[in-house]
Amino acid sequence: MNVNLLELDDVSKHFGGVAATQNVSLAVRPGQRVGLIGPNGAGKSTLVNMISGGLRPSSGTVTFDGQSLRGVPAHRRFALGISRTFQNLEMFLSMTVLENVMVAAEGKTSLAPSLTPRHQRTAHAQALEALELMSIRDYADVPAGELPYGIRKLTELARAFVTQPKLLLLDEPVAGLSDTEEFLEVLGRALDELGCGVLLVEHDMPTVQRLTEYVYVLETGKLIAEGTYAEVSKDPHVIEAYLGKEAEPH
Ligand SMILES: Nc1ncnc2c1ncn2[C@@H]1O[C@H](COP(=O)(O)OP(=O)(O)OP(=O)(O)O)[C@@H](O)[C@H]1O
Ligand SMILES: [Mg+2]
Repeated sequence: MNVNLLELDDVSKHFGGVAATQNVSLAVRPGQRVGLIGPNGAGKSTLVNMISGGLRPSSGTVTFDGQSLRGVPAHRRFALGISRTFQNLEMFLSMTVLENVMVAAEGKTSLAPSLTPRHQRTAHAQALEALELMSIRDYADVPAGELPYGIRKLTELARAFVTQPKLLLLDEPVAGLSDTEEFLEVLGRALDELGCGVLLVEHDMPTVQRLTEYVYVLETGKLIAEGTYAEVSKDPHVIEAYLGKEAEPH
């Protein structure tokens, strides 16, 4: 029996002549929190996109819950339990925080032909719960376009959490935040409560250390190390490729 929630086997992606990822194999077990680190351009976002369905691998297989995702479109992957956040925040700026989170909740249930009033009530209740979880209940009626950056990030997380994913893909959740402490506390608590598998892409090493139990290191498209944070942070290849250098801020 396959015990992995997510499995990548020899996944490569070429953009013209550029090999963005080369023969990458990695796994996330149910409920496991896995970090993915590497310098700018290492192929991290490309990998996330191949898992969420935005990009198709040039070769190799992505397996989720024992099922190959080959040819499975992004919205079906979402329905199967894969949710993600984006490196650049994506939400409806003219809609309120609550509406944005409700849309995400409805997206999950609206695989039924039409949204009944009952579905809408459920989505409303679930959205409020997600706002509570992220400590942003007070911002429910504020248009997303008017939010401070940190609250927008928490709103984006609420949109992902409300779908109760089996796997959450987080692409640089703390990038651009000036005060990460409170944000990380809320995120850590929410992840504990949700108990889903996580693949976290992040440049910020303390965040990786705090939120993940296993780490993969990519450099120019290839995996160069894996292990616990303590293990990979001692690996000379990793130090040379990444930890010794300061990552460029986004
Ligand atoms: N749509 C695309 N078309 C062409 N090349 C691309 C495309 N997306 C990514 N690349 C290239 O693939 C490589 C990996 O990019 P990717 O965005 O996956 O890196 P990353 O590890 O997420 O970097 P960062 O830390 O800067 O976010 C880079 O060389 C990038 O220029
Ligand atoms: Mg990226």
